Amino acid sequence: MSITTLLLSILSTLAITAQGDGYHPICPLPICKSCPTMQQLTQPGIGFALGMEYGTAAIRYHNKTIQSVIQVQGSPAYLSLMLDLSHTTQHTRFPDEIPTRRGKLEYVRARLQRLANKALGRPANAQTAVMAEMITQLKTGVEDTLSAGTSRAGITHAVISSPDSIHLTSEELGDVLDYLKVTNAMAEPDDLFAASAAYAGFGHGLCATYTNPDVCGYEEYNLPYQRILHLDFTDKALTTTIKGLKKWMSWGVDASVIVAELGYEHNNDDDGPSDLFFDRIRDHIRNFTISTKYRITELIFTGTRVGDQRFKDAVSAALRDLVADDTMKTLDDAFRAHDEPDFVFATAKGAAEVAKRRLEGPVRCKWSKDCKNVGQSKGESDKDGSMELK
Ligand SMILES: *[C@@H]1O[C@H](CO)[C@@H](O)[C@H](O)[C@H]1NC(C)=O
Ligand SMILES: *[C@@H]1O[C@H](CO)[C@@H](O)[C@H](O)[C@H]1NC(C)=O
Repeated sequence: MSITTLLLSILSTLAITAQGDGYHPICPLPICKSCPTMQQLTQPGIGFALGMEYGTAAIRYHNKTIQSVIQVQGSPAYLSLMLDLSHTTQHTRFPDEIPTRRGKLEYVRARLQRLANKALGRPANAQTAVMAEMITQLKTGVEDTLSAGTSRAGITHAVISSPDSIHLTSEELGDVLDYLKVTNAMAEPDDLFAASAAYAGFGHGLCATYTNPDVCGYEEYNLPYQRILHLDFTDKALTTTIKGLKKWMSWGVDASVIVAELGYEHNNDDDGPSDLFFDRIRDHIRNFTISTKYRITELIFTGTRVGDQRFKDAVSAALRDLVADDTMKTLDDAFRAHDEPDFVFATAKGAAEVAKRRLEGPVRCKWSKDCKNVGQSKGESDKDGSMELK
């Protein structure tokens, strides 16, 4: 251990122990079974976001640059699957209890069929097949970008985000990724859904020192607690989600609803100046927000259609007296600071950032002594504890 590393670790320990009540460092952490290699630590994080209308992909490089890669319009099969899924939750798809005997038999049959399909290298079921088709296009886009000019690089890991209310489970995502022979970099101990991914995609809820779990935990502890209202508006749906969080990750949401009838394609310009469609959007956002009884402290926007002036006006009208003035101001700031691609890619960018942290930071364990040797033989720990390639 170099003197600098030693001093830094003493300083960070002091910083943490000086905090008194409330924050407790993670101690002791379990030791990793094996050390990550330099190649694993420096590989880019790949994020995919599955939406109601399209999928997006982004790459988070080791040098911290995040690149938007590709937006893939959903095929008719994808659109119809997402619409069907929007009427479900993980609990309706995977009920604890199946009341009828016939239902039980059908359930067992579907489970066996899934296993058989997987064993044969086929998509586990129809849903897997449709999603795999989308993810394959996103993956190809990423691989083309990564291997531009050079030999083809196949990706090995990815993080997929899905809409909060649909809440695709690790099993559902795992089936898609197993079929494509890609590892789910998220999986346990937690999941990633659209509101959290977009929050991270806009740079919120992220600790700076993510390679040191103790320091990262302390930084996250000091982040402000926000109750976010995430609005995703595309041609195919309006999705509203309310969630309380400090760091990007938090369990569950307060409420999340997908309304396909409020997709922009249902806007009828013949309505004339009365704009009935946007009045419905306003009423929906207002009712949704009131129904949860929470005070919103942050607004997050994603989707191809959020830039529409009538949408912004509808959001303002819906929330004017429900959120504080300075939160309302973030509405204007959001649209001033970001151009359209950010709204389209924010969710995938957040997923890519999370993927990178999963691959590089010690997530489920602390580096063992051997892991330190990897850092010292091939590179040097820099200030934030991450590795620097020489
Ligand atoms: C980071 O790396 C990527 C890929 O190698 C490159 O395109 C990008 O320009 C780099 N960014 C910085 C800030 O060096
Ligand atoms: C919103 O709530 C009001 C009052 O409860 C109700 O009249 C209206 O139909 C609701 N609108 C929507 C879009 O849910």
